[in-house]
Amino acid sequence: MHSSFNRRQVLQAAIGAAALAPLGRLRADAPELGSVDVSRTTGGVVSSNSAAASAVGSEVLADGGDAVDAAIAVALAMAVTWPEAGNIGGGGFMMVAPPAGSRSPIACIDYRETAPGAVTETTLANQVDRRHPRMVGVPGTVRGLALAHQRYGTLPWKRLVQPAVALAGQGVVVEAALADSINGVLNAVSQSPRSWHKPLQQTFAHPQGRPWQAGDVLKQPVLAATLQRIADNGPDEFYQGQTAEHLAKFFADNEGLITATDLQSYQAVVRSPIQTGFAGFDVWGPPPPSSGGLVLQWMLRMIEQVGLPDPGDAVWTPASVHVMAEAMRRAYRERAAHLGDPDFVEIPAELTTPAFATRLAASISRDQATDSRALAGDIPLSAGPAESPQTTHFSVVDAAGMAVANTYTLEASWGSWVMDPATGFVLNNEMGDFNWVPGYTDVAGRIGTAANLMAPGKRMLSSQTPTIVQRDGRTVLVTGSPGGRSIINTVLCILVQRLRWGRSLPEAIAAPRFSQTWLPDQLRIETAAGDGLTDVSAALQAMGHAVTPIGFQGAAHSIAVDPGSGVRTGVADWRRGGRVAVSLP
Ligand code: DON
Repeated sequence: MHSSFNRRQVLQAAIGAAALAPLGRLRADAPELGSVDVSRTTGGVVSSNSAAASAVGSEVLADGGDAVDAAIAVALAMAVTWPEAGNIGGGGFMMVAPPAGSRSPIACIDYRETAPGAVTETTLANQVDRRHPRMVGVPGTVRGLALAHQRYGTLPWKRLVQPAVALAGQGVVVEAALADSINGVLNAVSQSPRSWHKPLQQTFAHPQGRPWQAGDVLKQPVLAATLQRIADNGPDEFYQGQTAEHLAKFFADNEGLITATDLQSYQAVVRSPIQTGFAGFDVWGPPPPSSGGLVLQWMLRMIEQVGLPDPGDAVWTPASVHVMAEAMRRAYRERAAHLGDPDFVEIPAELTTPAFATRLAASISRDQATDSRALAGDIPLSAGPAESPQTTHFSVVDAAGMAVANTYTLEASWGSWVMDPATGFVLNNEMGDFNWVPGYTDVAGRIGTAANLMAPGKRMLSSQTPTIVQRDGRTVLVTGSPGGRSIINTVLCILVQRLRWGRSLPEAIAAPRFSQTWLPDQLRIETAAGDGLTDVSAALQAMGHAVTPIGFQGAAHSIAVDPGSGVRTGVADWRRGGRVAVSLP
């Protein structure tokens, strides 16, 4: 084993690089340790994957909007400025914490996509192509943002949509991460013979036929017109107006399943979040149909039960990673066994009891990794492929202390690549988050358990974990991440460092992350974020972990609030670009 990489060095390198690196060149400037963009204020803060969208949010705050107003404007702006994951053609989860002293509870707005009315359990059993109109779930984003606005908004809806209209119509200045992303998808999609992939190609092709570079201007006039109709006519425009008519016709003409009735009947839902006590803090995560809150709860409780060895001055130690990885393994097994849309499957009440997590923790050995297959129990296992990721998370805290953690997604990067040329936005391929083949669970990580099988109107199980942490009723941390099933583990890595070990938020974001999801039985360690995990990988292998190096894990744009001074520290994760914007107190 090499000597452990000192965590102070990680932080110093991270902050130092952030100070030197011009916007959009963070990844290129600091490939080894990365960098974080940090801003401090007692005013309002937005941390997102897009500088332009963070600026839109901070302007809404400066205009007197609250955190939810800002979040709505950021989400719509990111549909323009970060189209690989920001969206109006997908869905997600928004956690909202009112300012301290408010009587309203923390709430989760569930705007997860739903299955079209035409599906059965086996509709996708033989589906091979993930980038197909059949893979599109009924989008929830516009209804979700409208529900948030109805409950918490203070500025007019139109005011919140208008910045996105302007960015789409007048153009957005392309950041390096966006240039990379567009160039990547254009390259991939150019190989596709499918007619339904052509509108994406046409919309995002550089006008001069060359690759995109930072500083270019991207215009999306068809999207601008769609957003203008949503600004003028409200959310019903998307679900029963001209936009809905276009979409229904598009799906009917292109082998899709979504009908006008599916769009018309889509509803966003307010749900009670999952609360877990950890290290003297209250951690609030999203409930089913996201698995995030419960899986996080089980992991945190198991860690408390077993005891988490303090790594001292090291970023991670074999013992700390081992305990967390074993908790991850067990929690993801239970996820597969029990979780799905609560409007369709009963989520046993027992799952939220401390005794449940205690029972799971009982089989954790101090020094030996468990073979995941040994935990399968009554889930039959077959030998056998795994998921691809893209989602985006942003965080907002306003001057009054109201907080929003929002994660939303198109599922894969650039979703299904499918775009209706009359509406100009990318559609999700979220149907892939259902269990595809009833009864077929394999060691590669495909799950076939009953709770998450397809049904008309049902929401597919998610791993999105927008998270708000409070102490004594005051918000102290807002976080979350993309990354498919690794999302919950990214959040766990951050919570442990910040809440249990008291590391600063920039330090916790800069540090390398790891993920174990039961199946495939791999302990994936992030190698592009310093040596903190590669240093301990030999010791972990010796304990029986199947250590699998990966490049990056997640992009956790987060905010910490110091409860004493009220100072907010906004941190943009360096891994996929991103920026913090503040509004003055
Ligand atoms: O909701 C989910 O769990 C997935 N559709 C999220 C996909 C994702 O995070 C991909 N991101 N990097």
